[in-house]
Amino acid sequence: MDTLAKTKNQTTADSFPIKGTDHVEFYVGNAKQACHYYQSAFGFELIAYQGPETGVRDRVSYVLRQGKITFVLTSALSPNHEIARHVHQHGDGIKVLALWVDDAAGAYETALERGAESAFAPRTLHDDDGEVVMAAIKTYGETIHTFVERTNYNGAFLPGFMPRTSEFKSEPIGLTYVDHCVGNVELGEMNRWVDFYQDVMGFKLLVTFDDKDISTEYTALMSKVVSNGNGFIKFPINEPAEGRKKSQIEEYLDFYGGAGVQHVAIATDDIIHTVSELRRRGVEFLYVPDTYYETVMERVGSIKEDLAALQKLNILIDRDEEGYLLQIFTKPVLDRPTVFYEIIQRAGAKSFGKGNFKALFEAIEREQELRGTL
Ligand code: FE2
Repeated sequence: MDTLAKTKNQTTADSFPIKGTDHVEFYVGNAKQACHYYQSAFGFELIAYQGPETGVRDRVSYVLRQGKITFVLTSALSPNHEIARHVHQHGDGIKVLALWVDDAAGAYETALERGAESAFAPRTLHDDDGEVVMAAIKTYGETIHTFVERTNYNGAFLPGFMPRTSEFKSEPIGLTYVDHCVGNVELGEMNRWVDFYQDVMGFKLLVTFDDKDISTEYTALMSKVVSNGNGFIKFPINEPAEGRKKSQIEEYLDFYGGAGVQHVAIATDDIIHTVSELRRRGVEFLYVPDTYYETVMERVGSIKEDLAALQKLNILIDRDEEGYLLQIFTKPVLDRPTVFYEIIQRAGAKSFGKGNFKALFEAIEREQELRGTL
């Protein structure tokens, strides 16, 4: 009996424990101005800073928070800097998807044993508020996963950062946590990266969408979603598929200069409030035609929210076996058509809005057409 129980425990134990998303770090051309955008438009609050004033000579980082979400905006202070090169190649983009763990060195060693490539070896940072251990591995493109162990730390963000608030009075809009982060990879690379998350980090394949699920008259893509043991981390991976015209994934890869993070989905408990505020503050969203709302209720059945309010804000609705979800997608938030956001409210549903894919991709194609990249 003992042996049986032990074996069962071992097989169900999480082989790569992750507590959640620690932070998302962007390499940008002008962190000071990007910081203002995330405060004024998205309602994040400035909590910490690192730069020349804290003894760091080569770069600046602004740390923003809302709910459980931490964004870090980092810029180089000289042209021959790795961060400047990254921005030159990719435009502003997401460099780090940092994962919160209990044992950063252990996670790093395990990942390397299972075939991951190192981005940097474990290092311990100290200041008066305690210590943080960090280590990182490479994933698709130039993106990395940093493991952050902060059990013995009480400071604002990381050792070396000073607490900092803003003269600007941010008004939070109800963003609560990072729901999922999506990567775009080159044709033929999706399965390689799905295998990577399964083999190296013990993720499970949650769902597969083929080109029949995700296609319009003109374009197609394929997607697989992997998720960690506790389900807190979800990484969909997209690759382009054959279509009559250029898929949005190819457009991304062209403009980003390779694989990278396509969108971050952020959860809210009140999407009508959140999206009303984002729109009022000038954030632009993809547009689906009114005809979408003529048939949507037949597809999703009854929901708590007022359909007229959802339609007015152009919020999309989908249902799975466990419930429904409300979602909307911004236009790219950068000059290059690369990174965008999804705002999502889950009412039981654990899926990703498959019922909206067609309407959504037709909306993206309309934008591609305007950019001359379809
Ligand atoms: Fe998404």
